[in-house]
Amino acid sequence: MIIAIDGPSGAGKSTLGKMLAKKLNLLYLDTGAMYRAVALAVTREGVPIWDIDRIAVIAETAKIDLVGEPDAMKVMLDGDDVSVNIRTLDAAQAASQVSTISEVRRIMVDHQRAIGESSPTGCVLEGRDIGSVVFPKADIKFFLTATPEARARRRYMEDQSKGRISSYENTLAEINERDERDVSREDSPLTIADDAVVIDTSELDLSEVFETMLAKIAEQSPTKIAPTT
Ligand code: DC
Repeated sequence: MIIAIDGPSGAGKSTLGKMLAKKLNLLYLDTGAMYRAVALAVTREGVPIWDIDRIAVIAETAKIDLVGEPDAMKVMLDGDDVSVNIRTLDAAQAASQVSTISEVRRIMVDHQRAIGESSPTGCVLEGRDIGSVVFPKADIKFFLTATPEARARRRYMEDQSKGRISSYENTLAEINERDERDVSREDSPLTIADDAVVIDTSELDLSEVFETMLAKIAEQSPTKIAPTT
């Protein structure tokens, strides 16, 4: 069972992806975290963003692992726990830039397919190109979206709760800038797959979206559901 969740930053993909993975006993893969880890490796090595060849080598050789249960997942880069370091605004911007490089995308997509296919029960993958590129034959595809203001509000509140310094205005500006880059890049831009179920989460609470997603999964893949709880 492969569940694809795509959409812009702050639409609820991670939270809902983790909830679905737990409920349906599937592996959870945050593909954005992989691009963030590559970006961090690039920054740490001081490689400029225009040096595509060196960045491709880093993407190929960096050892990126996502370990642990969905809600306590750690992101490891060459054996170092970078779960916190990859969540800064700078890391988000760097990830958005690194993810425009085709060679990096090819390497990440290969990894993501291998991880998704290796899970005996299946996998929930969230990102920008899961339903369109990584698993175009996914059992079910969701596209979660929300207004930039709603997404910025959520991100800002999350940052506050985790003690990260930010302002609502900066967060909104950063979200708009990243959206623009994610939808306008040449390789695998953020798009809505033809067969995706689109959910606008702006006015919905988490449990409403979760129930809608579960109902869609039950409708489209009833034989593949084996909930744990
Ligand atoms: O989901 P996120 O904010 O952690 O993703 C970080 C960046 O990585 C985002 O700007 C777009 C990029 N990304 C991508 O291009 N393709 C994916 N499948 C996942 C993320």
